[in-house]
Amino acid sequence: MYTTASLPGWRALHLLRFKNSPLKFLTKVHELGDMVLIGEQGGRRVYVLNHPDLVKEVLVQNPSSFRKGKALQIAGKFLGQGLLTSEGETHMRLRRLMQPQFHAKHIASFAETMASHTERMLDSWKDGQVRDVHHDMTELALDIINQTMFGHTVTEDVERIGRIIEQNSRNNIRQAKALFRLPSFLAASKEASAQESLAYLDQIIYAMIANRRREPDGHHADLLSMLLGAADEDGSHMTDKEIRDQLITIYIAGHETTANTLAWTWYLLSEHEEAEQMFWAELDEVLGGRLPTFEDIPKLVYTRQLIQESMRLYPAAWMIGRQALEPVVIGGQEIAAGDTLFMSQYAMHRSKKYYEEPERFHPGRFEDTFLKTIPPYAYFPFGGGPRVCIGNNFALMETAIILAVVGQKYKLQREGVQKVEPEPLITLRIKGGLSMKVLRRGNRQTTIR
Ligand code: HEM
Repeated sequence: MYTTASLPGWRALHLLRFKNSPLKFLTKVHELGDMVLIGEQGGRRVYVLNHPDLVKEVLVQNPSSFRKGKALQIAGKFLGQGLLTSEGETHMRLRRLMQPQFHAKHIASFAETMASHTERMLDSWKDGQVRDVHHDMTELALDIINQTMFGHTVTEDVERIGRIIEQNSRNNIRQAKALFRLPSFLAASKEASAQESLAYLDQIIYAMIANRRREPDGHHADLLSMLLGAADEDGSHMTDKEIRDQLITIYIAGHETTANTLAWTWYLLSEHEEAEQMFWAELDEVLGGRLPTFEDIPKLVYTRQLIQESMRLYPAAWMIGRQALEPVVIGGQEIAAGDTLFMSQYAMHRSKKYYEEPERFHPGRFEDTFLKTIPPYAYFPFGGGPRVCIGNNFALMETAIILAVVGQKYKLQREGVQKVEPEPLITLRIKGGLSMKVLRRGNRQTTIR
């Protein structure tokens, strides 16, 4: 039996609180019941699900009764019929088509590229320099996704791409949050400026497609070639627009989340000396100064625990939303078509019910069989069911490799007194970036403070 609750008082006020401070709101609501009615919008009810089994009911047991929530519906205007935002039969067809590109056997071949591109990034780092590490991680993740998925070397203005994606993320969230519609002239002008900047991304993507179409076959085994070669039963191929939708989805979904996870991990390491020492000790023991390979990943046990703990405290995907397409029963409760359900990784991962001292950074909690001792969806950084993150293994390998390459050479030390705060946009960012001093490790590691 699940506990239900309904927030008392004026419901619009709760929604306003949710929209203004979502992390604080969701953490509070988590304590109130397994399923909490937080408000109504246009006659449709809005619930927050706080029990792992209910998350499973929605994502795994009844996925076809739901479509994506409002934020991704809005993102769909730009991402088109991409894997992340398409629904139903189209989604299933795309998932079947793209899945092989993400199989462990296939992504193993990316380890070398991930390591060498990280090493190349370090060529521009100088001992003692202060850098925006969030920016560095974004640029690197973008570089890696381009190279591994599209065989494309980034020559574009990465700064501009980052700004466009951030602006787009802010626009989506603002629209999803809008309790009342913006006056139409204001909405139209914001929409026009967003469209204009997004045209720059389209230009990059369409150029990639055109270049590859011009090249002779057979040289590439990447996602782009696979999409170009994919044929329907009737022999027809995907149009440029259909391919563009997939590429832009992977381009965005495939780098921002990883970059945020890495930035949060560097921040956490810089605040916890013991964890940092254990991380270094493992790198020295397993790698002894050489670049990590795919085969090394299982041996980097503590590094993987660090990533898991970082994604527990600061999950890049901090909330999943779904809207019911039809009447459906969840946790014994009738949900009407049009109702919205939110499930928050951020709140669930900090629940006292499943985690001892949930606010404490303690990578060792992910030792051995820990995940088997908590309900499956008490930890769900990559979602679940048929829409589980297709890039989860890619992301785990990439973050481990980048941490290992950088961590062998540098200590990253927090710079400045500015408080590090999460900013929940489409992904969970560090508000205002992450300023860090990069110090060469070498023989100085024991004396650095
Ligand atoms: C730490 C890194 C990452 C995190 C935390 C993350 C998280 C997630 C989550 C929670 C979902 C499910 C969203 C939902 O159900 O509404 C998702 C879906 C998706 N992710 Fe990731 N992701 C990460 C990295 C990546 C990477 C590296 C790629 C591509 C290379 C990627 C591509 C996608 C795609 C295409 C989907 C949609 C899958 C579908 O609906 O079939 N993600 N991701």
